[in-house]
Amino acid sequence: MDFHGKTALITGSGAIGGLGHATAKVLAAAGANVIITGTDPGRGAQVVDDVRTGATGTARFIGADLADPRAVRRLAEEAGAVDILVNNAGVVPFSATADQDLAAYDAAFAVNVRAPFILVAQLAPKMAAGGGGSIVNVTSTAAGLGMPPMAVYGATKAALESLTRAWAAEFAASGVRVNAVAPGPMATSKVVAVMGPDVGGMGLTTALKRAADPAEVARVIAFVAGDQASYVTGAVVPADGGRTAI
Ligand SMILES: NC(=O)c1ccc[n+]([C@@H]2O[C@H](COP(=O)([O-])OP(=O)(O)OC[C@H]3O[C@@H](n4cnc5c(N)ncnc54)[C@H](OP(=O)(O)O)[C@@H]3O)[C@@H](O)[C@H]2O)c1
Repeated sequence: MDFHGKTALITGSGAIGGLGHATAKVLAAAGANVIITGTDPGRGAQVVDDVRTGATGTARFIGADLADPRAVRRLAEEAGAVDILVNNAGVVPFSATADQDLAAYDAAFAVNVRAPFILVAQLAPKMAAGGGGSIVNVTSTAAGLGMPPMAVYGATKAALESLTRAWAAEFAASGVRVNAVAPGPMATSKVVAVMGPDVGGMGLTTALKRAADPAEVARVIAFVAGDQASYVTGAVVPADGGRTAI
């Protein structure tokens, strides 16, 4: 994979050990100029430092709260011309339906669905004007499987998969590919801190009987984002250890 000369904006990349961090590292190692974004400039600076190590591309940080539509618009403006957008940021409201807090419901749709919607609305036309681009939405096996207590989370990811297909159709003629990568259980640092390395036993529900290292999913995102996947659009690519196959 060669990303020299390409600029990639990866949301939810502002914390060490997350999938966004791993994706930024893979892309920058292959030459991309990556834009790290998150809510905390201090943590973002740590990611920028780490991504620069071993990179042939560059890395910089832009702060943004993706729950705030004005901040999302500002992020798109500050990012400038972008060739690759990875909508990776996500929040997971764990709750039984009867107990679901509605503010958390709204926040999940704001970050997981509305923010990607605003970013695509602003950046896809610019990609088209520049000759094309690639968008990867990070969804989840929870989009297609009933997984209590993650009903709201699954609904946000199903919405993002639906948008993936709609955007693929809408932007194909202008040279912009739009795909989703759907991870299964993944041992990212925050998840491990709360649920342990096997993601609360969910690793054992996969065919491979383990959770993913985030780098394993990041490489799939990078492949789908890059020119090697030039004939792939509108796809939801599982990176789930066979969870949805069995
Ligand atoms: N880990 C899993 O098992 C798993 C499985 C399937 C799918 N996924 C999906 O994979 C993606 C990455 O997951 P992860 O495990 O790496 O999660 P993570 O470590 O919690 O990372 C998610 C990132 O989203 C960002 N974010 C959340 N709310 C935000 C907001 N209001 N504004 C800006 N950024 C915000 C966070 O940024 P800050 O750090 O700055 O708050 C965080 O870095 C998510 O979309 C998740 O749904 C994860």
